Amino acid sequence: MGEKAPEMERARALLRDAHSVAVLTGAGISAESGIPTFRGAGGLWKQFRAEDLATPEAFRRDPRLCWEWYDWRRSVLSQVQPNAAHHALARLQRTKRDFTLITQNVDGLHFAAGSERVLEVHGSIWNLRCTGCEREWTDRSARLELLPQCPACDKLARPGVVWFGEKLNPNTWAAAERAASSSDVFLVVGTSAMVYPAAGLAPLARSAGAKVIEVNIEATPVSGLVDCALTGRAGEILPAIVSSDQEYGAGS
Ligand code: OAD
Repeated sequence: MGEKAPEMERARALLRDAHSVAVLTGAGISAESGIPTFRGAGGLWKQFRAEDLATPEAFRRDPRLCWEWYDWRRSVLSQVQPNAAHHALARLQRTKRDFTLITQNVDGLHFAAGSERVLEVHGSIWNLRCTGCEREWTDRSARLELLPQCPACDKLARPGVVWFGEKLNPNTWAAAERAASSSDVFLVVGTSAMVYPAAGLAPLARSAGAKVIEVNIEATPVSGLVDCALTGRAGEILPAIVSSDQEYGAGS
């Protein structure tokens, strides 16, 4: 760990002493589970055009193409496991009474690791939503029969994710903003901080007085405002800065 050690120690102490912790995760936290991120080398948006697959217009134009892409991603995701970073955050939650996990990821891996009440601000790839009656339901099958229909009204279903140009669920988003602005420590992990409004949560937390810790393999637009920037893989850094339950004392 070498020259990183003092920063790691600082992050450990900040997390240990915090009464209220909020965490924002992005695609980087799932990278070590074998899931491609969106930007950067090998990123999904290097191979595919978001405007062809992840907008309401794309879905209206060609729902089958859009569903085939989401169905392929579901089949990939059905074969992966949460990694050490997801598990570390699930452990951290068990040591804090006031803890909120906000994720931009749609992969469901935080739940798979045992985290509870995760705010999935971009929705979940395992949810489907009716384009007619808006009913939403969960279907964990690796492959769907395309095109899926609403069990209640037979209208076409869409993926239960947030597309470019769409609004986030207002209740989920309000809860995320509340958690960020009332946290003592805001931990931001594996996100390029390019996509708003989620990218605004770290600055919001900072301006409300939180100490901000960033974990990423490279610098991002929020790196300049954080109190503690830890450069490296989430699967290595998070287990190292999250102490064991015993050290914190449950519910502290
Ligand atoms: P990005 O793909 O934009 O960024 C991933 C970040 O993770 C980058 O900053 C990487 O440096 C970092 N990273 C990669 N591997 C890592 C590792 N092992 N440990 C730590 N960090 C690592 O993903 P997001 O920021 O999540 O939106 O993207 C935000 C949104 O853009 C997504 O939710 C999605 C996408 O379009 C929607 O689907 C609406």
